[in-house]
Amino acid sequence: MNELTLDAKLAKTPIDRNIYGHFSEHLGRCIYEGYWVGPESSIPNVRGIRSDVVAALRKIKTPVLRWPGGCFADEYHWMDGIGPHEQRPTMVNTHWGGVVENNHFGTHEFMELCDQLGCEPYICGNVGSGSVQEMSQWVEYITFDGKSPMADLRRANGRAEPWPMKYFGVGNENWGCGGRMTPDYYADLYRRYALYARDYGDNHLYRIACGASGDDYLWTEVLMAKAGDSRALRGRQMDGLALHYYTSVKRLPDGSREGSATEFDEAGWIEIIAKGRFIEELVRKHGTIMDKYDPEKKVAMIIDEWGTWYAVEPGTHPRFLYQQNTMRDALVAALSLDIFNNHADRVRMANIAQTVNVLQAMILTRQEKMLLTPTYHVFEMYAAHQDATLVPVDVRSERYTHAGYDVPAISASASVDAAGRLQITLSNANPNQDLATTLFVRGFPATQLRGRVLQAPTMHAHNTFEQPNQVTPQPFTGARRTAEGVELVLPKMSVVALELQ
Ligand code: AHR
Repeated sequence: MNELTLDAKLAKTPIDRNIYGHFSEHLGRCIYEGYWVGPESSIPNVRGIRSDVVAALRKIKTPVLRWPGGCFADEYHWMDGIGPHEQRPTMVNTHWGGVVENNHFGTHEFMELCDQLGCEPYICGNVGSGSVQEMSQWVEYITFDGKSPMADLRRANGRAEPWPMKYFGVGNENWGCGGRMTPDYYADLYRRYALYARDYGDNHLYRIACGASGDDYLWTEVLMAKAGDSRALRGRQMDGLALHYYTSVKRLPDGSREGSATEFDEAGWIEIIAKGRFIEELVRKHGTIMDKYDPEKKVAMIIDEWGTWYAVEPGTHPRFLYQQNTMRDALVAALSLDIFNNHADRVRMANIAQTVNVLQAMILTRQEKMLLTPTYHVFEMYAAHQDATLVPVDVRSERYTHAGYDVPAISASASVDAAGRLQITLSNANPNQDLATTLFVRGFPATQLRGRVLQAPTMHAHNTFEQPNQVTPQPFTGARRTAEGVELVLPKMSVVALELQ
């Protein structure tokens, strides 16, 4: 029996649009080739940034973009990425394959990309190998309007006005690639670095601290106790605490992952679904610790890296993390976004890794060609939740059991948008069975029902450069209005978006 119950009158918590955010790093072909082709390229571009990728990301209403890393962030020295391209020094991207980074994509190019996307920039500063001064000067360079050494340097590089910048990360994975720090040591550093990342004029930074890896609850406890408690600090210094969690089969000692993105059996399907669902436990448990120090939920949980991570596609660079994207990834995206929506009281941003050509990407490119992945289509179908008001849903779902795993088959979330429409997203992770489902809708007298579905005949279905439209959303005809709400048959391994008005 599958029954979902909601009462639109209980809509209360806003779903921050930034839950639909993205993360892009100087890694493999994400920045170079993915976004940046250079102004001389034959690939259509505006000031060096490819136009097809920008148009696709605008369509899913990309709200915020995190850059330059990731592990790259704690090796990045921002001054190498300003000034005339031919004068910028090169560096070795030691973490991601030892390739040469020519720094042609730097601060100005990133801000230009955010302008073209119409999204908020979220810059992650260097704590691991950078100084307090370097970080402080970066903020001054970007946001200071008056006369100062950094603002003058910005002007000399062709940008008169400061850029508005809200989101600023103080280091990345400082427990690992960002400096191998203990939580106590990082918490002290966070307080120091965050202090000198100043607010200039009307620009108010939203400072985000490096958070835990997966279930490292001690990290959250220490960070909240030392830097997240407004009472202890006499004024709030931390606006967000980041959590990183990747869904994968197995992590190898060198950080790479096992398991193909496209070749797996049903055990491989359910393992990834179950591990994807684990993020709900993480959100709840880290959230409980945060509640202890911050009962008013002033500090946001920012899930600034999430998504599936598999072995790289055969024949590609082992450190470029290029992977395909199937219906399995679409299901993980759907259930993760449902979880973030349903915890919108604490989760106010999430950034899937990594937008183009890396990990669970929205977009894959090959020279002038571009394709949209099943994950992209989920983001497009879920975009209606952005800035809508969450409606809690009680989900009674059949279990889906296989190979020792046991998960609810159905995931769902709902919201009322600014136009007063009820948006409901659902997915069925069972690859063998369509599910007859009843949706009890209270407090919302609707006359119209529209739906779309993302489904495919096999678990492995994906889009290729030769066949880019194998998996695309289609009109959904399996639902009908009833006196109680909606009756529908949720197709096996599908994602459905319903709109009632
Ligand atoms: O997204 C790939 C890497 O995963 C990031 O650079 C790092 O922060 C995380 O370990």
